[in-house]
Amino acid sequence: MAKTGKPKQMEGEVYYPSEQVIAQARLKDWDALAEKAEKDLEGFWAEEASELEWFKKWDKVLDDSNKPFYKWFVGAKTNIVHNAIDRHLKTHRKNQLALIWESEDGKEERTFSYYAMNREVSRMANIIKAMGVSKGDRVTIYMGRVPEIVFAMLACAKIGAIHSVVFGGFSVDSLQGRIEDSRSKLVITCDGAYQNGKIVELKAIVDEALKRCPTVENVIVVKRVGQQVGMEAGRDHWYHDMLNLPIANGKCPTEEMDAEDPLFILYTSGSTGKPKAILHTHGGYMVGTYSTLKYVFDVNDMDRWWCTADPGWITGHSYIVYGPMINGVTSMLFEGGPAYPYPNRWWQVIERFGITIFYTAPTAIRGLMRFGESWPQKHDLSSLRLLGTVGEPINPEAWKWYNRVIGKEKCPIIDTWWQTETGMFMITPTPVVPLKPGSGTRPFFGQKAEIVDEQGNPAPDDTEGYLTLLKPWPAMLRTIYGDDERYVNQYWSKYPGRYTTGDSAKRDKDGYFWIIGRVDDVIKVSGHRLGTAEVESALVSHPAVAEAAAIGLPHDVKGQAIHTFVLLRTGHAPSPELAEELRQHVATHMGPIARPEDVKFVDKLPKTRSGKIMRRVLKARAQGLPEGDISTLEE
Ligand code: WTA
Repeated sequence: MAKTGKPKQMEGEVYYPSEQVIAQARLKDWDALAEKAEKDLEGFWAEEASELEWFKKWDKVLDDSNKPFYKWFVGAKTNIVHNAIDRHLKTHRKNQLALIWESEDGKEERTFSYYAMNREVSRMANIIKAMGVSKGDRVTIYMGRVPEIVFAMLACAKIGAIHSVVFGGFSVDSLQGRIEDSRSKLVITCDGAYQNGKIVELKAIVDEALKRCPTVENVIVVKRVGQQVGMEAGRDHWYHDMLNLPIANGKCPTEEMDAEDPLFILYTSGSTGKPKAILHTHGGYMVGTYSTLKYVFDVNDMDRWWCTADPGWITGHSYIVYGPMINGVTSMLFEGGPAYPYPNRWWQVIERFGITIFYTAPTAIRGLMRFGESWPQKHDLSSLRLLGTVGEPINPEAWKWYNRVIGKEKCPIIDTWWQTETGMFMITPTPVVPLKPGSGTRPFFGQKAEIVDEQGNPAPDDTEGYLTLLKPWPAMLRTIYGDDERYVNQYWSKYPGRYTTGDSAKRDKDGYFWIIGRVDDVIKVSGHRLGTAEVESALVSHPAVAEAAAIGLPHDVKGQAIHTFVLLRTGHAPSPELAEELRQHVATHMGPIARPEDVKFVDKLPKTRSGKIMRRVLKARAQGLPEGDISTLEE
């Protein structure tokens, strides 16, 4: 975007959309729609929902009689797969591409039309059904970035099973905890996954995890890397063998679901304890992901949309799989990362496939910036028309580089703030909204956000406070699976009647929101959401460790990095070798993404009198900042 004349006086550095962008945009009058949605929230969402197909329409759009257990499209019957696939088969979209996949090494390419998607998803659905999985059963999916992960998710949804995708970068303990908590009957995995030319042994990790997961009856293994893996007779089945069975045919009816029936659970790190299983539903999540992608990225049939997230995180669920397919666009899935074998890998993919909308994370942009402009300059990126960012605040320097070097100052940068819990974009511009580098601008249609102080009083403009949301929205989480009480406590009790996001933020005089960061013990490492509690529990599982604390500190590329403090058991002495061993221990147990930046040995951890570790104090000390209120600190 170029800085052009100011139609409206706004403060700070503002980038206005060009005439061409405005001319292309489906929605030109942002204010009019915002006003309409504000006046009639239910009417707005009813209209959006009417653009999709339902087996039976709703009796009521929103039921808020039992807050905070909101219900959307009450009484309606649908299935998200009906709208993501089945309905397209009746139109010109039938033969359009739903998915393009490229392998990490660039030697393989697989594409699937909506017609082919239906066939592949149906085959997988029939196989899953044959394993005794039915409506409401949980299925854990632990795979690399291959087309089959998309089939697996959609296949579960098609038959009404609840998928629980575990990010392939997690390891044994994280996987085991999530399988156990969800009581999954079936695990779908790959023999391995490629990562920067190396192999991650997914199946071996599954085998290790399953030693402690008695609920799992079957494991489906997709062959990707072709190396030797152990197959337990009766439990483990090669996917390619099952595809040869007569049951694996390409026809499978799409189960009729209640709008409020669970679609998936996705574990995410919270402030304390174990990761929480965030529950999303067929109806509301379907409408929310559909409308947000439609308005915010303005997708159409000509687009080739690429969200670089992993399908194992919410961004992948909502905006690689469901949102794009419900909108009937072509979605790119790339197996590799940005810089392997060279830092032009993503730019190569954009050029090769003519990507029109590119959506990634600030950490990736910062990482690629370091390699300089010559890498993107080797490629023709002129197909791009919109750029997006998500996952953490984007620093203005990275924003400007992205705008200039990748977008050639003609692509608006859509900074979308949202969460696993929100399911869909919540604070975000659309292409016609004037932008300020580093701000996600304003809440999406129908939403109202407010910054409040500790007591819940609205904070004045330009003052940091807690970010809260005032209105319900269709893709909102319905609960924490199996723990309604924790759902209420975590999100709705600090400020009754409001959703607490866990983020601190500011609002400026133009009503633009600026996210500062998490106020709880969530760490965002390279855009991955991790909890201090999980890292600490991985550390204390090592025989030398008595107690441990983990904190996130700013990092130039990763956004935040994990720093740990360890108190050793008697009989163990600090050493650089032990520090290295502990870092490796966390990587092995939790996953390489959680490998601490450093391990510091201490004699004592700052604690409250009730014994809680004061991470806030550790963080302040590490950064040489004031320690704040330490009146509860024990001696
Ligand atoms: C952070 C990812 C600033 C925020 C979709 C939030 C952001 C957490 C942005 C949720 C953004 C996400 N600008 N911060 N555009 N997007 N965040 O559940 O702290 O992995 O609470 O969802 O990421 O992370 P999650």
